Amino acid sequence: MPTPDIHAVELAETAAAAFRQVFGAEPEGVWAAPGRVNLIGEHTDYNEGFVMPFALPFYAAAAVSKSETWEFHSTYGNGDTVRADTVGSSVDDGVSGWAGYLAGVAWALNEAGYPVSPVRVAIHSDVPHGAGLSSSAALECAILIALADLHGHEIDRAEAARIAQKAENAYVGAPTGVLDQSASLLCTEGKVMFMDCRDLSREQVPFDLASENLTMLVIDVNAPHRHADGEYASRRADCEEAARQLGVPFLRDAPKHARLEDDRLNRRLRHIITENERVLDTMKILKGGTVAGIGELLTASHASMRDDYEISCTELDSAVDAALEAGALGARMTGGGFGGSAIALVETAAAAKVEAAVIEAAAAKGLRTPRIFVARAAAGAHRVA
Ligand code: GLA
Repeated sequence: MPTPDIHAVELAETAAAAFRQVFGAEPEGVWAAPGRVNLIGEHTDYNEGFVMPFALPFYAAAAVSKSETWEFHSTYGNGDTVRADTVGSSVDDGVSGWAGYLAGVAWALNEAGYPVSPVRVAIHSDVPHGAGLSSSAALECAILIALADLHGHEIDRAEAARIAQKAENAYVGAPTGVLDQSASLLCTEGKVMFMDCRDLSREQVPFDLASENLTMLVIDVNAPHRHADGEYASRRADCEEAARQLGVPFLRDAPKHARLEDDRLNRRLRHIITENERVLDTMKILKGGTVAGIGELLTASHASMRDDYEISCTELDSAVDAALEAGALGARMTGGGFGGSAIALVETAAAAKVEAAVIEAAAAKGLRTPRIFVARAAAGAHRVA
C-alpha cells in the first residue's frame, strides 16, 4: 500500500473512531478520496474535451466493514445514521440526501457487473460543502474504492470514475460530466492531471509552485450555487443543440472557426472551442517547465465563462477582479459556476496582499466574506488503514 496522505490519515482516524462509537467494532478498513479544483478546462468534460484538475488535501474518509444490512453514518450534519435494506436495488431505493451518494455508488457497481453486499460505513469529510470543490464526488469515490476492495473487485480507476459518474447522473439525477470523479480517483500528489474526456487518457504534469515562489489561492466565495442545477442542465442542452446544428457528435469535434446563427449558441460554442485550446496551451507551458506563464490563460478562461458561457456571478467576478488588481498573475472561477470557488495564481510574496484585496472587495460590495486557503496538489483516492 503506498504511503497515505498525512492529512487523510487524521481524517481516517476520526472516521474510524466514529465507526467504533456507532457500531461498537473496528472497521475492516478506511479509505479516503479528495476534493479537487480544476486548473482550467471548464464545462468541456461533457463535450468530450480537455480538463486539468488537481486533487486538494481535503478528503472524505470512509471507515467500512461488511455487514448484514446497509448502515450509513456521517459525522457532519446531524450525525445521523441511515439504515436501508433496499440499497443497490434500483435508482428508487428510497435513500436520499448525503447517503444517496453512497447508495448510488452501490447501485452503479451492481449495474456495472461488480456485485456488492451490505456494508456499515462511517464517513468523516472536510471537503467544504457547496464550495464547488467536489465534496459529493469525494464521498462517492471513497465508498467506491472501499466497496471494490472489500468485495475483491479490481476496477480500473478510469472505469471506476465512469461508475461514480453514473451514480451521480442516473441515481442522484445530476447531469454532470466525468471531471470530478476522475480528479478524485486519478490525480496524483504534486501533479496536475491533463485528461482527454473522450477516452479518459491522461498525463500527470509536474506542478511545482514552490520552486517558482508561486502560490495558488483557492477562494471559496461563500455563495450558495443559485439555480445551479437548472443552469448546468441548460448549458449542457445548449452544447448538444450547437453540436446538432454543426453536424458533429460533440463540440470537441467542432472546427476551430465554426459559427452559429443563434447568438447564445454561438457564444456557448466559442467558449468550448477556446477553452479546449486554452487547456492545450496551458499544458504546453507547464511542460515547458514554467507555471508563471499560465496566468493569462486562466484570466482569459474566466472572461470566457463570464461573457460567453454565462456561469459566473457577482461574488466570483469580484474575487477574480480584486485578485488581478492586487497583482495576481491570473485568476478564474473553477468548477460548475454560479457560486463556489475561484483560484488565483500569485507570487508568494504577494499572497497576503491579494487575500486582503479579495476580502475588502467583497466587503465593499456587501457580499459575504470569502474563505481563502492555499492549495496543494494532493494524492488521489487511496486506502488509508
Ligand atoms: C461540475 C461538474 C463537472 C464539470 C464542471 C465544470 O463540477 O460536476 O462534471 O462539468 O462542473 O467544468
